[in-house]
Amino acid sequence: MVGGGAARRSWGAAVLVLQAAWALVGGQVRYSVPEEAEAGTVVGRLAQDLGLEAGEAEARRLRLVSRGRRASVEVSGASGALVVSSRLDREELCGKSAPCALRLEVLLDRPLRVFHVEVEVTDINDNAPRFPAASKNISIAELSLPGSRFPLEGASDADIGSNAQLSYTLSPSEHFSIEEETSDSRTKSLFLVLRKPLDRESLSEHRLVVTASDGGRPALTGTVQLVISVLDANDNAPQFNQSVYKVDLSEDAAEGTLVVRVNATDPDEGINSEMIYEIDTFNPPSASDIFTIDANSGHIRLTAPLDYETVPLYDLHVKAKDKGWSPLSGHCKVVVEVLDVNDNAPEVW
Ligand SMILES: *[C@@H]1O[C@H](CO)[C@@H](O)[C@H](O)[C@H]1NC(C)=O
Ligand SMILES: *[C@@H]1O[C@H](CO)[C@@H](O)[C@H](O)[C@H]1NC(C)=O
Ligand SMILES: *[C@@H]1O[C@H](CO)[C@@H](O)[C@H](O)[C@H]1NC(C)=O
Repeated sequence: MVGGGAARRSWGAAVLVLQAAWALVGGQVRYSVPEEAEAGTVVGRLAQDLGLEAGEAEARRLRLVSRGRRASVEVSGASGALVVSSRLDREELCGKSAPCALRLEVLLDRPLRVFHVEVEVTDINDNAPRFPAASKNISIAELSLPGSRFPLEGASDADIGSNAQLSYTLSPSEHFSIEEETSDSRTKSLFLVLRKPLDRESLSEHRLVVTASDGGRPALTGTVQLVISVLDANDNAPQFNQSVYKVDLSEDAAEGTLVVRVNATDPDEGINSEMIYEIDTFNPPSASDIFTIDANSGHIRLTAPLDYETVPLYDLHVKAKDKGWSPLSGHCKVVVEVLDVNDNAPEVW
């Protein structure tokens, strides 16, 4: 209870003390004021709550004694009200701790009295959720299984209570969703979840936006952009641009002549798309002495003379194998028809 009653225990004084009691808890006056309240906002009718009569506040010099830190509130001389004098930022005063109270001492002269006044600074939703960065790069293997989870860093919000209670949403995506996991009441883990298999060859980079909303009214939001790179898997075989290459070659073609260039392509990336060419099967087998293939370029050349009279048609099976860790191959056929030139002297009967 407010002191001094014992000194002048008149009936009138007792009534005053009782009237002030609602604001006095354990000898203290308590008020609350929202942070960021404008200068001049009345926090409480201090003189009245201390049981002072009109004019007494000024006459007895009701005032705050500041202990180092600026109080951001002051006693308005004439009315004896406690008013906001400068910016009150709850986050700056108390950070994440709640409740946030300013403990003030109020002095009164003649006789000298000291009162303790507590002003609770309540939170308003003046801070938006913030992610650690505006953009985040993530690499995900092309063959990751649906259901795979990738941890994300959540946002933080400098406010407290529901003003800092965050929920997350993801921009529309066929392949991904977002999942929150509450391991205990204070920490929440955030995951990106793969919902549908990825295919680097159809889309190698996915751009998504995660939005964090706080529980304030109205809610404030913060976003982070996710740039998801799909890491290639060797899931495509080389494919020739023709399944059969037909070539006519005159039988007097010189050694070194280019027969044909076969060409395969592989939509994968890096070594998964690089390939080596080889001739798998020679038909007839003697063709292995006549044709060679450049493993890198796919150029097939003659290495020996042809002879229409011995073999008029060659059939080569060509393979392109990629250089991936578990290689895949594609196949084609090269048919070489040898054209007769008049190289045999007429037989004379
Ligand atoms: C993400 O990747 C891009 C391009 O690959 C790069 O320029 C950027 O610095 C990366 N950002 C982060 C946060 O690593
Ligand atoms: C091989 O074929 C592909 C597709 O048909 C073509 O884009 C490429 O230029 C060809 N390569 C050569 C060396 O001709
Ligand atoms: C296939 O590739 C070869 C070599 O590059 C080229 O000469 C040929 O015209 C291509 N065939 C087709 C059907 O594109």
